[in-house]
Amino acid sequence: MENPVENAKRLAAFKAVDNHVVNGVIGIGSGSTVVYAVERLAQRVKEEGLEVICVPSSFQAKQLIIQHGLRLGDLEMHPELKVTIDGADESDKQLTLIKGGGGCLTQEKILASCAEEFIVIADYRKASDNLGQQWSKGIPVEVIPSAYRSVYQRIEKALGGKSELRMSGASKAGPVVTDNGNFILDWNFEGVKNWREVEISLNMIPGVVENGLFVGMARKAYFGMSDGSVMERE
Ligand code: A5P
Repeated sequence: MENPVENAKRLAAFKAVDNHVVNGVIGIGSGSTVVYAVERLAQRVKEEGLEVICVPSSFQAKQLIIQHGLRLGDLEMHPELKVTIDGADESDKQLTLIKGGGGCLTQEKILASCAEEFIVIADYRKASDNLGQQWSKGIPVEVIPSAYRSVYQRIEKALGGKSELRMSGASKAGPVVTDNGNFILDWNFEGVKNWREVEISLNMIPGVVENGLFVGMARKAYFGMSDGSVMERE
């Protein structure tokens, strides 16, 4: 694989799947790095007879599971997961994450919370010392559509910074609509110190469904590096 970023994603994903997946129910995150994790899962099912049921965090994840011929499950039948594997937009040294660049943060956080182990896979661009160094688009906040203005105002009043309603771009006029039928605000923060407090404050605002800060959830992160190695943080 020639592209160093794609190569890095693949290395991290393969290593995480090899080190953490055993027979059982697995949470499947969303995004471009998870594609490689599903690829590796499918290989292991075929080659080793690994027996996994995969619970998706999004429409995209569900499609991936189906395309690779893996067994599809849901949280209603399997509310307890052995491990959830997912990407991240940024991770600091404490494994505090920003997620939701792809708009799937709510279901991703649910799957992370239901797993005995939540494992992060990413390329080298996602590792930082402090959140905000790498990911410049802010913290995604999923909101009930009718409340987006009031949430927007309340975030700015309570926490400062600036929020933007995420728009669809060229493919559709209007805002991005999540798999849950909601909108996304991207909140550009300033000088935050306590991420746990911010995570809780955001979720206390009526109309907020969930936010993309994952604090104290990840057990380990694998970062594929440009030199072909994998950096591990825990
Ligand atoms: C999806 O909403 C996100 O949380 C993704 O997990 C995150 O954006 C990482 O995506 P990539 O693997 O594409 O970088």
